[in-house]
Amino acid sequence: MTVHFIGAGPGAPDLLTLRGRDLIAACPVCLYAGSLVPEEILEHCPAGARVINTAPLSLDDIMQEISRAHAEGQDVARLHSGDLSVWSAMGEQLRRLRELAIPYSITPGVPAFAAASATLGQELTLPGVAQSVVLTRTPGRASAMPSDETLVNFARTGATLAIHLSIHNLAQVVESLTPYYGEQCPVAIVWRASWPDERVVRGRLASIEALIDDTMQRTALILVGPVLESDDFQESSLYAVGYDRRFRPQSADSPFATASQDQERES
Ligand SMILES: C[S@@+](CC[C@H](N)C(=O)[O-])C[C@H]1O[C@@H](n2cnc3c(N)ncnc32)[C@H](O)[C@@H]1O
Repeated sequence: MTVHFIGAGPGAPDLLTLRGRDLIAACPVCLYAGSLVPEEILEHCPAGARVINTAPLSLDDIMQEISRAHAEGQDVARLHSGDLSVWSAMGEQLRRLRELAIPYSITPGVPAFAAASATLGQELTLPGVAQSVVLTRTPGRASAMPSDETLVNFARTGATLAIHLSIHNLAQVVESLTPYYGEQCPVAIVWRASWPDERVVRGRLASIEALIDDTMQRTALILVGPVLESDDFQESSLYAVGYDRRFRPQSADSPFATASQDQERES
C-alpha cells in the first residue's frame, strides 16, 4: 500500500500529468484538497472509489483516513493543488507517514506561478532584466514568516517576485516594494489562472490597488518586476549565431567538436 501525493495543477483539469492521472485511476481511495482541486480531476477515480474532500478535516482526521486505507491494503491518491513543493502541507503528512512506516510517492504538478506566466504570455526571467524568480508570500493567520524572508529583503535583489497567498495584503505589498522597484514598476495580478473564470489585472505599483475589486479574493498571484513589460532585453546566447556549444560546435577546434562527433557516432 502506498500513498501517492499528486500535484493536481493550477485549475484546468487537463493541466495534470499523465502519471498523476494514471495513479488516480489506480487508487481505490482519493483524498483531495477540495478548496482548489477541480472536481473534473476526480472523474479519473475508479468506479466505487472512496473520495474524500479534506478541506474540512484536521491533520489527525486525514491520517486516520490514510491509516484506514493502509489497514485495508488500499492505495491512496492524495491530491493537492498546483505542485507539491510549495505551500501544499505535504511536509507534515510525509513526516507522519515516515513515523508510521507507510510508503509514499510524489508526483509533481504544474504550479500556479507557471500557469500565471502562461496566462500573461511572458517569461519571468529575461537576460539582463531578471534571472531569478522569488516564490514567496506575506505572513498569514496560520503562518508567520521567518524573520529574514521579508518582501523588503527580496525586493533588494530586483528579481521577479511571485507573491502567493497575499491578495488581501496588497496594500502592504505595494508599500514594501515601492521604495525598491519604483512606483512605475509593472505588476500583474492573475486570479484563478487556468480556471474558466480566470482574470488578469495589469497595472503599476502606484495604480494596482485601485484596479482590483473585491471579487478578486483568495486564489490570486501577484507578480511584480520589470520583466512584465520589458521588450528591451538581450537575446540569450543559447541560440546566438557563432556561440560555441555542445550541440552546435563552431569549428573543428571547438572543445565541443569531439563530444559532438562521439555523440553522432553513438546515435
Ligand atoms: C496554498 S497555495 C498553493 C500553491 C500551489 N501548491 C502551487 O504549486 O502553486 C495557494 C496560493 O497559490 C496561488 N494560486 C494557486 N492556484 C492559483 C491559480 N490558479 N491562479 C492564481 N494563483 C493561484 C494563490 O496565491 C493562492 O493563494
